[in-house]
Amino acid sequence: MTISFDEAAGAWHLSGPGHSYVVGLCDQGMPRQYYWGPPIPDGAVAGLLRDRGEEYSFDDRIHNGVELLGELGPQFATPSLQLRHPDGAKGFAWNYRDHTVDGDHLAIVFTDRELALTLHYRIWNTGVIDRWAVLETGAPVEIGRFDSAAWTLPHWKDYRLSHLSGEWAAEWQLRRVELPVGETLLGSRRGNTSHQANPWCLIDDGTATETGGEVYSSALAWSGSWRVQIRRSTQGRLTLTGGAGQEGLRWHLEAGEAWETPVYSAHYSADGFGGASRAWHEHLRRHVMPTAEEDAPVLFNSWEAVTFDVSEKKQMPLVDLAARIGCEQFVIDDAWFGSRTSDTAGLGDWWPNPDRFPNGLKPLIDAVHAKGMKFGLWIEPEMVNPDSDLYRAHPDWAIHQTGRDRTELRAQLVLDYSRAEVAAWAFATLDKLLGDNDIDFLKWDHNRPFTEVGRPDGTDPDRVYIDHVKAVYELKRKLREAHPHVRIEGCAGGAARVDPGILRYVDQVWTSDNTDAGDRVAIQHGFSQAYPARAMGAWVTDVPNPFTRRVTTLRFRFQVAGAGLLAVGGDLSEWSDAELDEAAEHVAVYKDIRAVVQHGAQYRLGDPETEQLTGVQYVLGDRIVVLAFKTPSRFNRPQAPLRPAAVAAGSRWVDEDTGEIHWGAGLHAHGLPLRWADTDWDSAILRLRRAE
Ligand code: DGJ
Repeated sequence: MTISFDEAAGAWHLSGPGHSYVVGLCDQGMPRQYYWGPPIPDGAVAGLLRDRGEEYSFDDRIHNGVELLGELGPQFATPSLQLRHPDGAKGFAWNYRDHTVDGDHLAIVFTDRELALTLHYRIWNTGVIDRWAVLETGAPVEIGRFDSAAWTLPHWKDYRLSHLSGEWAAEWQLRRVELPVGETLLGSRRGNTSHQANPWCLIDDGTATETGGEVYSSALAWSGSWRVQIRRSTQGRLTLTGGAGQEGLRWHLEAGEAWETPVYSAHYSADGFGGASRAWHEHLRRHVMPTAEEDAPVLFNSWEAVTFDVSEKKQMPLVDLAARIGCEQFVIDDAWFGSRTSDTAGLGDWWPNPDRFPNGLKPLIDAVHAKGMKFGLWIEPEMVNPDSDLYRAHPDWAIHQTGRDRTELRAQLVLDYSRAEVAAWAFATLDKLLGDNDIDFLKWDHNRPFTEVGRPDGTDPDRVYIDHVKAVYELKRKLREAHPHVRIEGCAGGAARVDPGILRYVDQVWTSDNTDAGDRVAIQHGFSQAYPARAMGAWVTDVPNPFTRRVTTLRFRFQVAGAGLLAVGGDLSEWSDAELDEAAEHVAVYKDIRAVVQHGAQYRLGDPETEQLTGVQYVLGDRIVVLAFKTPSRFNRPQAPLRPAAVAAGSRWVDEDTGEIHWGAGLHAHGLPLRWADTDWDSAILRLRRAE
C-alpha cells in the first residue's frame, strides 16, 4: 500500500490491495478523481490527467469526478458542499495550499476566503478507502450541506444499484434496481440510521454476479440522519455523494470553529457481490469493531420469554435453564428499572425497580456469575418517558420545540444529548450503574426516531441532529474507557442503528425484532451484504413465532441463528426436557464452529429470495462450515445441489461428523453431502476439515 505524489502532474496515486485511486488537481484548481479501478503503476498516472484542459461547458462535464461537488461555476448537480458567507456569497472556490502524506493517510488542503478545507484519504489493507473532510473557518459561515466525499465511477453503459431497505421487523431487504438518469436519494430523516434504509450501497453495470464482476460499494459511518445521493448524468457518469444530515438542515460555524464530517468509505472489487461483502466484513472486523477478535459468548436474553414481566423471582429459574443448555451470558431486557412495568413509564430512572428487585440486582447477578455466565443488562439511555422522575425533574431535557406539541412514540421522547448537562447526566448515571453492579454487557436500545427537533433558546436547532450522535459516540467511548471489560450490543428497535459509525463503539448489533427463523434466512442474507456474522445477533425463540405464527423445528431455528452470534431468546421454562437436551447439543455444536463462523470468510451459496436451497459457508484456516437452509418445497421438484465456494478441485476434505473423505472435485460435481431431516423449513450443517 502506498500513496505517491506526482508533482509534475499534480496528482496523488493511492494504491492498495486490488485497486488504485488517482486524485489530481484539474486546471480549475478543483480536486478531481482521474482513475479508480484495478491497480496501475505510478508511471501511468500522468497520462490519466490528459483531459485536464477541458473547458467549462453547458453540460458541467468538468465537474465529473470532483471530489466534493461545489456550487460555483457551471455546477448543476446537487452539491456536496453548500456554504453561505455573511456577505451573501456562496460556495467554496478551490485553491490548493499543500498536502501531507503520513503513511496510509493523505490530507490535501485547499483555501478560500477565511476557510481551510482539508480532504482526508486513508487506505487500508482490506482495499477499503476512507474519506472525510474538515472545514476550519476564520469567519462565521453557514453550512447547508457538508458531505464527507463524492465518489465517481467509470463510464459504464448501465448502472445497477444494490441497496438495503426495510422496516421494523423486516429489515435488510436486498434490492437491485437499474439506476435512472437523474438523481436517486437514499437516506434517513429520522435522527437515526433507520430501519428503512442502510447507508451501504453497491453499484455494478448490471452484469456482476455473486462470484464475479466489477463492483463499487460504499458505506457511511454515521448513526444519525444521513443521505447518499446518486447522480447518473446524461453523459454517462455516476457520482455518489454522501454525508450526515438530511436536506433542509443548516447550521453555523463561528470564527475559529472547525467541522469534521464522518467517514464515507468505498471499495472496488473485481470479485462480484461476494468479494465486496467479504472485504467489508474483514474491514469492519479488523479496523472498526472494538473487540471482533474475541469469541462472542452464547447469550440468553429474556425479552421474548417474559417481555415486561421482569423480576428476580421470574429470572432466577431462567438462569438455571440458560446455564443448563450451555449459555455463557445471561441478559435481562427491558423493565427492570424505575416504575417501568410496561412501555408507558420509567425510561430515565435507571435504578432497579424495588418491587421487582427488592435487594437490587446483586442476587441475580451473583446467581448468574455462580453459574459461570456473564451478566448483561438492557438500557435505553437516550430516551425518557414523560411518566418518569427524570422527566418530572427536567422536562426541558427532551428534544422539543418551544410552543409545539411533543410527539410521543412508544410513549417516549428523546433526550437532547447535544446539551452538555444531559450528556454529563448520562455518563454519571451509566458510570454509576456499571460501578455499583458487576455488569459484563449492556444491550443499548434506541426505540424511536426524532421529531420536533429544536433547541429551547432557538440557537442553531439543526445542530441537534448531528451533535446528539456525536455525543452518543463520545458517551460510549468514555464508558468503554472507564469500564474496559464491558461489551455493548447496539440495538434500535431491531436494526435502526446499524452502520460503520456505531460499530466503532459496540461489539455486536441486534439484527431485527423479527426472530422467525424462516424470515431470518432472507434478513441475514441482506445483513451479510455489508456486515459480518461477528456483528449479527441471532436468537432462537419459541414457536409459533410471536410475529409470524410460523412453526419451525428447533434444529432449523438453531442452525439459522448459528450463522451469526448464536443466542437463545425463548421461554426456557416452557421447553420440555427433550427440547432442553436438544438445545444443549446445538449449543455445543455452535461452540465447535463458533470461531469459523465469527472470524472466517463468508461465502453466500445462493439467494433465498429466488432459490429454495441456499447456504452460508465460512472458511477459517483448514476448516469449512456450511449452514444450509431449505424453504418449503413446491411440487416436490428436485433441487440443484449446493456447491461449495473457494474449494479447489484437487483438495481433499474430511467430513468431521462421518469421517468420510471428499475431493473438492466431487463436492463440485455432486454438491455438498448435506444430511437433511426432511421437514418443511429444513436445515443442515456440514463441518469439513482439510485432509493431509
Ligand atoms: C426493542 C428491542 O429490539 C427488543 O429486543 C427489546 O429489547 C425491546 N426493545 C424492549 O423494549
